[in-house]
Amino acid sequence: MYFPSSLQRFEPKRMVFSTWVDHLPFAYDLVEAISPKMVVELGVYNGLSFFTFCQAMVEHDVDGVAYAIDCWEGDAHTEGYDDSIYNDVATYARDHYRGIAYLMRTYFNDALAHFSDGSVDLLHIDGLHTYEAVKEDFTNWYPKVRPGGIILFHDVMARIKDFGAWKFFDELLQTEPEIFRFNHGFGLGVLRKPGGADTNNQLLDLLFSGNEEEHQKLRQLYVHAAHFLEARRQATKFKAMVANKKAKGGQGKSTEQVNDGGG
Ligand SMILES: C[S@@+](CC[C@H](N)C(=O)[O-])C[C@H]1O[C@@H](n2cnc3c(N)ncnc32)[C@H](O)[C@@H]1O
Repeated sequence: MYFPSSLQRFEPKRMVFSTWVDHLPFAYDLVEAISPKMVVELGVYNGLSFFTFCQAMVEHDVDGVAYAIDCWEGDAHTEGYDDSIYNDVATYARDHYRGIAYLMRTYFNDALAHFSDGSVDLLHIDGLHTYEAVKEDFTNWYPKVRPGGIILFHDVMARIKDFGAWKFFDELLQTEPEIFRFNHGFGLGVLRKPGGADTNNQLLDLLFSGNEEEHQKLRQLYVHAAHFLEARRQATKFKAMVANKKAKGGQGKSTEQVNDGGG
C-alpha cells in the first residue's frame, strides 16, 4: 500500500497560477524519495514548481540547494512579461528559502558552465516547449545529471500550438530503460539516468519497476492527490469568504446598533 506524505501532510505554501499545479503532490514525494543535494530547474516563471521543490526539501529535512534558472523575460509560449515576476520570485526566495534557493537570471546555455558534470540529482526541464528547444535543453544538461539522477519534463501531454515536448518524450520512451509518464494535467515525464546505485524506495520502485497495473494505480493516485489539494483549497477559500461575510455582517449590525442608540 503506497500512502505518500503528500496525502498525509502537504499544504502548498506558494500558490500562484500555473499548469504545474497538477503535479505538486508528486514533486513533494519525489523530493522525499531522492533527497536531492542539488536541484536545477530550467524555466521557473512565477516559481510554482520551484518553490514546491524547496518546500519539500525543508519539510523532508533534505540538506541541499536548488537553482532556479530563467531569463525571466518569457518565451514564445509564455509570451513576454515584465520584471515584476522576477522581483516577486526573488523576494519570495529571500524571505522563505535563504540558503536553499538560488536564482540565476540568465539563459540556460549560459548557465551550463557553472555546473560540473554529474552534479545534479534532480533536473526539471520546463523552458520553451518546442521539440527543438526541449531536445536542446535535454542534450545540453544530461551530462550534468549524476547517474541515477532524475530528469523531469513538463508538458509532455500538451499537443497545442507548436508544443513538442510530447514528441521528444515519446522518443525517449522508446529508448530509455527507466522512464515514466504521468498523463494528467499537461503531463509530466520522469526519467532516471542509468548507472546509479540500487535504491530501496517505494515510489522509485513503482515508477521504474512496477507493472502496468501498478503504473495505472500510481497515475490514478496522483490524479486524486491533485484533485484533493484543489478541493481543499476551494473549501478554505469558501470558509474564508463566509467568515469575511459574517464579520462584515456583524460590523454592519453593531454600526446600526450604535446609530440606533445614538438617534
Ligand atoms: C513554462 S515557464 C516555467 C513554468 C514554471 N516551471 C512553473 O512552475 O509554472 C517557462 C520559462 O522558461 C523561460 N525560458 C524559456 N527559454 C529559456 C532559455 N533558453 N533561457 C532562459 N529562460 C528560458 C521563460 O522565460 C519562462 O519563464
